Amino acid sequence: MELKLISGTFLLVLVLATVAAADSQLGNKASAKDYAFNATCMEKVQEHIQREFGAAVTYLAMGAWANHYTVQRPGLAKFFFGSASEERQHGLAMLNYLRMRGHNSLSILPAELKPINEKYEWESPMDALRQALTMEKDITRFIKQIINYCTDAEDDHLVDYFITDFMDEQLRGQRALAGHINSLRGLLNKDPAMGNWIFDNKLNA
Ligand SMILES: [Fe+2]
Repeated sequence: MELKLISGTFLLVLVLATVAAADSQLGNKASAKDYAFNATCMEKVQEHIQREFGAAVTYLAMGAWANHYTVQRPGLAKFFFGSASEERQHGLAMLNYLRMRGHNSLSILPAELKPINEKYEWESPMDALRQALTMEKDITRFIKQIINYCTDAEDDHLVDYFITDFMDEQLRGQRALAGHINSLRGLLNKDPAMGNWIFDNKLNA
């Protein structure tokens, strides 16, 4: 009887000790696993942050080119610098999102940033706008790939965030660029000598 009581007490102590040890392992130290995110989805977003900041640097280079005294298109420079700020905000929002989801890597930012194709000058405003549209179409395609992959991976929160906060703005930005290209084309057809000047004034209004 006494032996049974001792062995019962020992068993209870052992169970409590095991529960306490498991508790301290899981409860006291929050880890990325607590958020149950899909690691590949997070990696894809991390890769994409580089594209957003790359687009920001590309627009900065375009703005700097348009601001050069030999080019002298202040309206275009204003438009490109504004676009650079938007892309930087996108990259920053995605970075904050990764951190909110428990992304752990400290090397989250690209080691270096250069404009796309390491290009710093363009033949004309039309040339720069066309490259900007190509870049935006690529970014749209990558955002769609992330949405598709993470839909399959059932990361609903990430998918909802990307559709709501990025895809809408992305498509509107792409449409605005296409509109600028068509306006400029129309002006250049009508008045080849003054088309660029009129377009630039319109952007600077
Ligand atoms: Fe963007």
